[in-house]
Amino acid sequence: MTEQQDQQGPFLYVVVCAAGVAADVGRLITAAQERRWRVGVIATPHAMNGFFDTAAVEERTGRPIRSAWRRPDDPRPFPAPDAVVVAPATFNTINKWAAGIADTLALGTLCEACGLGVPVGVLPCVNETLAGHPAYRDSLIRLRGTGVRFAEPRDRTRGEDFGWERALDLIE
Ligand SMILES: Cc1cc2nc3c(=O)[nH]c(=O)nc-3n(C[C@H](O)[C@H](O)[C@H](O)COP(=O)(O)O)c2cc1C
Repeated sequence: MTEQQDQQGPFLYVVVCAAGVAADVGRLITAAQERRWRVGVIATPHAMNGFFDTAAVEERTGRPIRSAWRRPDDPRPFPAPDAVVVAPATFNTINKWAAGIADTLALGTLCEACGLGVPVGVLPCVNETLAGHPAYRDSLIRLRGTGVRFAEPRDRTRGEDFGWERALDLIE
């Protein structure tokens, strides 16, 4: 990627959580790039632990995946986002985000995104049993109240496609 290409187009943060479907996150990155987004991936520490092919994602985006905070004297690795998507979004991350917990870079980024005024889209990957937990229902209400957009759940156990491109539809 030339420096000029690297500075063209709006910048999308893709936040990746530790759900099994994360193995296919390359589909979202490719679709975003086809829609002219530049993409930077921020993964939870759990997601970095074998949930997706990190080398392939870094090659596809042309940027290192971020998972930990930079050192104070390091430059900001990504520009400010024009939009943020969380895909897949876990039960754990959605609840911590709604509660304002920022103990990982991914959560800190999401907590900040609510105040940035940029579109934020979420593809939850939460099974029906967990989705019935009262904290989860409250989290959705709270985050929707700040303008965060959620896609309808898809049941992958019934063979439904995760529908990665819906994340882009939510923010465009
Ligand atoms: C193979 C595997 C698949 C998982 N899939 C999901 C999932 O689809 N949704 C979910 O909410 N948690 C799932 N989990 C549990 C999360 O990884 C766990 O709650 C973790 O704490 C989430 O961390 P994160 O939100 O920081 O990424 C899965 C765990 C494993 C080991």
